[in-house]
Amino acid sequence: MDGHYLQTPILRQMSYKIDFDTTLEELCETFRFLSENGCHGFDCSKESLNIMESWGHKEDLSSETLDMIRIDLGECRRCRLWESRKNIVFGAGDFHARLVFVGEGPGYDEDQKGEPFIGAAGRLLTKIIEAINYTRDQVYICNIIKCRPPGNRNPLPDEIEACFPYLKRQLVAIKPDIICALGTFAAQTLLETKQPISKLKGRFHDYNGIRVLPTYHPAYLLRNPDKKRDVWEDMKKLMKALGD
Ligand code: URA
Repeated sequence: MDGHYLQTPILRQMSYKIDFDTTLEELCETFRFLSENGCHGFDCSKESLNIMESWGHKEDLSSETLDMIRIDLGECRRCRLWESRKNIVFGAGDFHARLVFVGEGPGYDEDQKGEPFIGAAGRLLTKIIEAINYTRDQVYICNIIKCRPPGNRNPLPDEIEACFPYLKRQLVAIKPDIICALGTFAAQTLLETKQPISKLKGRFHDYNGIRVLPTYHPAYLLRNPDKKRDVWEDMKKLMKALGD
C-alpha cells in the first residue's frame, strides 16, 4: 500500500483543488437523484439531504450576492414545479433596496417572462409602489415560490419548503429595512403563523430583525376594490417607517 488507496474520486478532486462547494453540491444532487428514484441501503432521508446541502453554505451567508444565490439555484428541480414552469422567477429590482415586496408565486405572465408581478396584479402593485414615491427599480420584488404552480393553484407545503430557503438567502443578501408581505401566503410563511391576513395586516411584525408589514395582495384588491383604502392606510405606515 503506497497511500493510493486514499485516492477516491472525491479526494482526487479535492487534491486537484476543485471547488469543495461544487463537489458537495454534486454529491447532494446525486443523493437527491438516488433518493427520488427510491434508492435504499444508505441514508437518503430529507433531513440528511438538507444537512448536506447546508454544508456548502454554512460559511458567512451574509456575504452572498444575489447573483451567487441565483447561480446556486440553477435550473432548479427541488420540487415538482420545474416540470410545468417556463421560467424561474427569481426576483427583480434594486439589490440594495430598503423595501422588499414579497408575493405568493408567479402567475401566467410572470412564468412567460421570468419577471415578478407583471400581469394585472403586477400593474396594480406598480401603481401602489409609485403612490409611495418609489419606482419598481428602487425596490426589490420577489415571491415565496419561484415557479408557477399549474393553473395558479396555491403552493403546496413541500414546494414552499423547497423554495423558501432561497428567498431567506436573498433577504440576507439585500438586507432591507422593511418587507411588505403581500397576501396570506407571504405573510404566513415569513411570520410562521396560520393567522389570517385580515389579522396580520396593518401592523409591523418581525422577521429576523427586519420589520414586516403585511397587507392585502394586489390580486385580492382587483376582486375587492373597496379594500384599496385599507392598503393605502398600510402604505402610509410604510412611508412613515421608511422616513420618506
Ligand atoms: N402574484 C404573485 O403573488 N406574484 C407574482 O409575481 C404575480 C402575481
